Amino acid sequence: MKLLITGGAGFIGANFIHYWLRQHPEDQIVNLDALTYAGNLENLKIVENNPNYSFVKGDICDRETVDQVMPTVDTVVHFAAESHVDRSIQDATPFVKTNVLGTQVLLESAMKNGMKRFHHISTDEVFGALPLNTENKFNETTPYDPRSPYSASKAGSDHLVRAYHTTYGLPITISNCSNNYGPYHFPEKLIPLAITNIIEGKKVPVYGDGQYVRDWLFVEDHCTAIDAILTKGQIGETYLVGGLTDDITNLDVIKKILAIMGQSENIIEFVKDRPGHDRRYAIDWTQTKEKLGWEPKYDFDTGLEKTIQWYKENESWWKDVKSGAYQEYYQSQYNQ
Ligand code: NAD
Ligand code: DAU
Repeated sequence: MKLLITGGAGFIGANFIHYWLRQHPEDQIVNLDALTYAGNLENLKIVENNPNYSFVKGDICDRETVDQVMPTVDTVVHFAAESHVDRSIQDATPFVKTNVLGTQVLLESAMKNGMKRFHHISTDEVFGALPLNTENKFNETTPYDPRSPYSASKAGSDHLVRAYHTTYGLPITISNCSNNYGPYHFPEKLIPLAITNIIEGKKVPVYGDGQYVRDWLFVEDHCTAIDAILTKGQIGETYLVGGLTDDITNLDVIKKILAIMGQSENIIEFVKDRPGHDRRYAIDWTQTKEKLGWEPKYDFDTGLEKTIQWYKENESWWKDVKSGAYQEYYQSQYNQ
């Protein structure tokens, strides 16, 4: 395969590039990334001289760049997005631009250039929120009900991807995945923010009452799911991807991290809640298992321990990330 990875300098994209070059050393990868605040070529240092890997700095909204890159590949795996819910609440504009308009530019170019596959990486947040203390889970038939500017823009992109399949026959697949965690995770998100704040001796901010539930997936398990979809998935299908956590609240996630790191719970700080905060996500991935034979490998304790170890061993990576513009964002978000 000749793959175009969009957003490959971000958290999941970079993990996917490492994974794919290891598992499919005969394939070629072009990484198209605009290097926004979330994109970091340090994430790809290990592979930058690999002859089967190349990097193009460019915006997916820029038709000219996209039209230059697309003819060199046969498969697109589309990760590029504005991905942080809190930033979308501060300013939705870049979310609509990249997530909706950028996806449409890619779809158009993929059509023109006869892509064999366009795989779109989406999120469980498009399905809205589930109540606490129920057995309900999202599945392939759950209606869309996005509630933040981020999830609304991702829902818009999912609809466009399906429309290009129905209307023009573009060979697409979509995956809706739950909360990833692992190496290279940008420390604006809960788990890497908590781990790095703990190492720095800072408080760990918990929104509202902390009784919010996410479905946590170790990022390598997401990579194996995308592999299964690219190699065995059926054109036009949507696959749900989730982890092995049984309803764990944010507060319990933080307490678990503190216990692994041998720190006191005194450093937990309850802060102002996120507006429109989705109470609970849970994914039913049985269809993905039945159709593709995929299932997650890492339980939460193992994945968390590996992740904490990575942040301990890569202090210079996250200290660089947390300097500069990150400080301004932190102050505006947490008012400190
Ligand atoms: P991220 O924010 O870490 O990385 C996004 C990458 O996209 C960055 O490298 C950035 O530079 C690049 N990018 C942004 N705008 C661009 C543009 N206009 N043109 C080119 N590149 C651009 O995001 P992530 O957490 O790795 O998420 C990747 C994808 O997975 C996103 O589509 C996200 O919606 C989806 N997703 C994420 C999670 C999660 O838990 N992180 C879960 C489910 C789905
Ligand atoms: O569900 C998949 C989604 O997971 C992806 O589509 C998004 O791209 C990704 O960012 C993630 O969204 P969340 O909003 O769930 O992730 P975040 O890490 O920002 O927050 C996780 C939970 O922790 C959420 O309930 C909000 C809460 N939180 C977050 C931060 C940053 C806190 O309590 N304190 C914090 O400081």
